Amino acid sequence: MKWKITEDILYGADYNPDQWLNRKDILDEDIKLMIEANITVISLGMFSWSTIEPTEGNYTFTWLDNILDSLYSAGIRVFLSTPSGARPSWLAHKYPEVLRTAPNGQRNIFGERHNHCYTSPVYREKLTIINRKIADRYAKHPAVIMWHISNEYGGDCHCELCQEGFKKWLKEKYKTLDNLNYAWWSIFWSHKFTNWEHIHSPVPHGDQTLHAKNLDWKRFVTYMTVDFMRSEIETLREVSQNIPVTTNMMQVQDNPEADYLLDYWKFKDHIDVSSWDSYPAWHLPGHSFIAESIQDIPVNDFRRASEVAFHHDLYRCIGDGHFLLMESTPTNVNWQNISKLKKPGMNILTSLQAIAHGSNSVQYFQWRSSKGSSEKFHGTVVDHSGSNKTRAFKESAKLGQILKELKPLSASNYKADTALLFNWENRWAFENSQGPINTRQKAYLETIKKHYYSLWNQGVQMDIVSGEESLNRYKVVVAPMLHMLSTQMVGILTSFVANGGKLITTYQTGYVNDTDLCFEGGVPGPLSDILGIKVEAIDVLHQFENIEIIDGKTQKSYTVNDYYEIVETTTAKTLATFKGGVADGKPAITTNKFKKGEAIHIAGRVTTEDLNLFYSDIIKNSSLNSSQEEIKSFTGNLNFQIRSDNNSQYLFIMNFTDKEETFETSFNYKDMNNDQSGNNWEIEGYGIKILLKHID
Ligand code: GLA
Ligand code: ZN
Repeated sequence: MKWKITEDILYGADYNPDQWLNRKDILDEDIKLMIEANITVISLGMFSWSTIEPTEGNYTFTWLDNILDSLYSAGIRVFLSTPSGARPSWLAHKYPEVLRTAPNGQRNIFGERHNHCYTSPVYREKLTIINRKIADRYAKHPAVIMWHISNEYGGDCHCELCQEGFKKWLKEKYKTLDNLNYAWWSIFWSHKFTNWEHIHSPVPHGDQTLHAKNLDWKRFVTYMTVDFMRSEIETLREVSQNIPVTTNMMQVQDNPEADYLLDYWKFKDHIDVSSWDSYPAWHLPGHSFIAESIQDIPVNDFRRASEVAFHHDLYRCIGDGHFLLMESTPTNVNWQNISKLKKPGMNILTSLQAIAHGSNSVQYFQWRSSKGSSEKFHGTVVDHSGSNKTRAFKESAKLGQILKELKPLSASNYKADTALLFNWENRWAFENSQGPINTRQKAYLETIKKHYYSLWNQGVQMDIVSGEESLNRYKVVVAPMLHMLSTQMVGILTSFVANGGKLITTYQTGYVNDTDLCFEGGVPGPLSDILGIKVEAIDVLHQFENIEIIDGKTQKSYTVNDYYEIVETTTAKTLATFKGGVADGKPAITTNKFKKGEAIHIAGRVTTEDLNLFYSDIIKNSSLNSSQEEIKSFTGNLNFQIRSDNNSQYLFIMNFTDKEETFETSFNYKDMNNDQSGNNWEIEGYGIKILLKHID
């Protein structure tokens, strides 16, 4: 990343003072309370278009001047936002093309947010004008340290302009209709295109079964969104080359149907700073590993914490080593089915969890509760009582103080030599494919999270990678369910193993190329040589069927959940075999030496507990970068993470349960909270400790 990370850990919130402009008493009180809560940064202006430009071409900036000045006088810095996330009604009514068109072809009317067409030249033009004015006026304002681009981009538009854009993008990609027809295998069901004009986005009243087209549509939506974002960034850059830009990204949706259609890996090269908005369902029933059982999962904040950790790692890697926690809630959200308050301690714990994984900020949505409209009951630092005596306020102020004291940590990094491969395009291709499972039990994301959990739970420090950039710096790369393989990815994986890396793949690897065409020569396609296997078929178990995997050395048995492949080895060695069913006696886990490295394939989907066993061997055999050697023993479920710089190592110990636990460190550490040194520690329920060790 191009941004020199701040010299402190930033602490703040989204602030929407445009809701209170006729209430000077509240605006003054806000500044007073921000100072009291130890706030150091504010995100401002993301929904301010109608206040800045109340009628077309008439701009009112004085209110924003005043807000920026008073924040600056209070020592508070600002992430100033472009207002593209929502628009004024005059704009939507005068230029309806700026509004989004639904898949059924109906144009939306004014309302909501994110309701814009990212292709519309008029929307871009109007936005360029206001963005330019914002940049001209505030680029040199001393409070402004970053541009916050829009707010949570996402979704698609099916208007005529987007149809034209899609066809143009396809023409650039495929050059000829013959190439496109081949790549999409459109001859199937006579869907062959004879004219570019006949191509339409995938819609329910049209075509949704041309899978390669569906995939290209999602790629196009990402491309156009990035293009839109770039046009926003360019306007700001013309005026301010030195102010970094970020855009706030979101949690990966569990339900593939609810996907935002954005491959965030494609954002990486266009933003200076990665940031995301974290709203986990703490204190609600369990995790979402649906491959095991979706019914009656108990509350399990520990597993939820691993899902959040996965996201922190993902956004840190999109940010090349650092990220910002742009939004979270100090208390509760108001949009989960049941929106629970965070229990005492939980906000400090979960905020510092982000820091543990490489964030250099903690920020909330939002500072003060709105008096009306849809988010009036969302948690905030200052609620409708306006009081500084609430638990939310007091805990927030305390966290602000803690973050101030963590200043030395801001220059430290998170180091990992294990990588977990998560690829959005693979998710799109796989989740859209038909057979042999056609329900949410396909579970690509959940499988990624399961593998993540097993490694995270055993202290392994992990990066998340796309598979689209060199992996040679890692010792181990875990790449579950890599159903779709591009030529580029095959090259990257081949070079990784050839150079001595250890690759771990699973069932559902190497089925199609990057336009969703099956590999001639069968599965796992171009990874056959590296893995040293051929996959003859894939099948799924019903719940009442039972097959196991038996480890050849230890005779340990693993239970298969659903997917299993019938595998023949070519050059690989069999480590474990299936017992029962049609795969009886066939290889279940194989290992293959390839040049200087090794590739392990797991041919059946096993339970999380069994994955834990599998990975504990890998961790031992590969001496991975992990927090395990720092910890001699511990009780209960604790999670450990490490940030370090050349001189210091910061060990974070997190307790996501309500029970007090104890642990013993292998070395003498100092508690950053009270300067006490030692090896034996107690940690309260929903507690966190940050311990410091000097390193030579
Ligand atoms: C998102 C948005 C915010 C707000 C919060 C509520 O993250 O960016 O504007 O709506 O959700 O949780
Ligand atoms: Zn459109």
